[in-house]
Amino acid sequence: MSLTFAAQKDLAWSADETISALHADPRFGEKFADHMAIATWTPDDGWHDDKVVDYGPLDVNPASAVLHYAQEIFEGLKAYRHADGSVWLFRPEANAARFANSARRLALPVLPEEDFVASVLQIAATDARWVPDAGESGEKTLYLRPFMIAYEDFLGVAPAKKVLYSVITSPVGAYFAGGVKPVRIWLETKSSRTAPGGTGEAKCGGNYATSLLAQEEAYAKGCSQVLFADAVEHAWIEELGGMNIMAVSADHELITPELSGTILHGVTRRSILDMAPDLGLTPVERRLGVSELLDGIRSGRFPEVFACGTAAVVTPIGSLVDESGETTVKEQTGEITMAIRNRLLDIQFGRAEDSRGWLR
Ligand code: COI
Repeated sequence: MSLTFAAQKDLAWSADETISALHADPRFGEKFADHMAIATWTPDDGWHDDKVVDYGPLDVNPASAVLHYAQEIFEGLKAYRHADGSVWLFRPEANAARFANSARRLALPVLPEEDFVASVLQIAATDARWVPDAGESGEKTLYLRPFMIAYEDFLGVAPAKKVLYSVITSPVGAYFAGGVKPVRIWLETKSSRTAPGGTGEAKCGGNYATSLLAQEEAYAKGCSQVLFADAVEHAWIEELGGMNIMAVSADHELITPELSGTILHGVTRRSILDMAPDLGLTPVERRLGVSELLDGIRSGRFPEVFACGTAAVVTPIGSLVDESGETTVKEQTGEITMAIRNRLLDIQFGRAEDSRGWLR
C-alpha cells in the first residue's frame, strides 16, 4: 500500500513574522521549517508509520548503526514559489529514482519512487508558508533534504534491520556567499572523492566526508570548492565536492564528464544537457582530461566553465588553481553560462514554458 505521510494533529506552527525574518537572508542549510516527514522500515513490516510531525531531534542510540558504519543516503531538491503564489517542485521523480539507486548501493531498503514523491509533495504542501519568494537574488527557495539512515542499535557490520526515512526542509538563498559571482576552484589531483567500484554515483554521506579535507585545504588557498580528478590516473576531470562541472567550447559544445560510475547523476546536470539544444548548444558527455581543460581555458577553446547542481544552480567558475598556479577563465559570468542559468531558473520559477513537464 502506498504511503501518504499524513500530517499529525496538533502540529506546532511558527508565527508569520518569524518566517519572514528568516526569509530576508536565508543561509544555506542553517534554519529549518516547522515540520518533517518520517517513515520507518523493518524487514517484517516494510515501510510503515509514515507521517508529518514537528521538526525536532531524532532519538538516536549511541549504538545506532549509521553512527558507526555510515549506512546512509540523501537527496536534495527545491520548492519554488511562482509569481502567482503557487509552490512547485522540480523533477522530484528524478530524485526518487536516484534515491532508489543510492539505496541499492548502500544495501538500504528501496523506498518506492511514488512514496518518495508523496513525501516531498506532502512536506512542501505542509510547510508551503516556508517557501520564500525568489527575492532580489532570484534564487530563494525551500531546500528539501530527504535522507535515509541505518537505525538499528547493533554494532555488527550488516545491513540494518531498522531504517529511518525523513525529509527536512530549509529556506535557502545562493549556495555560495556573494551570490552569482565567479568562484575560484582548487583542482585536486592527489586525493580523490571516490574510486572505480566505489560509491561515487550514489548520493551517500561518505562521498562528501571524503571531500572535506581537500575542501579545507582549498579554503586555505582562497578557493570555494574542490574539483576532483579520477582516482586511477589523476588525469580525468570528475566533479566538484558537491556539484557537477561543464565547459562551453568556442564552437558551442557543452561538454561534461561522462557518467563513469564514479560521478553523481546530477538532476541539474541532466536537465541542462536536455535543454542545451534549445540554446543552440550541442551536449557532449565524454571523458574530459585535466590538461585538455586547462589548455582549453588558456587557449580560449573553453571560454566558459561552470558548476551546476541543485544547491549551486549554475555558478560560473572564474579560475582553476593547482600546484602550478592559477588558470583564469576568459569569459567570467559568460553569456552562455548566464543564458543556461536564466533558462533553468525561468522554468523552475514558472517564467518560461515547462515544455518537458518537469514541474510538479
Ligand atoms: C545538492 O545540490 O542538493 C547537494 O546535495 C549538494 C550539496 C549541498 C551536498
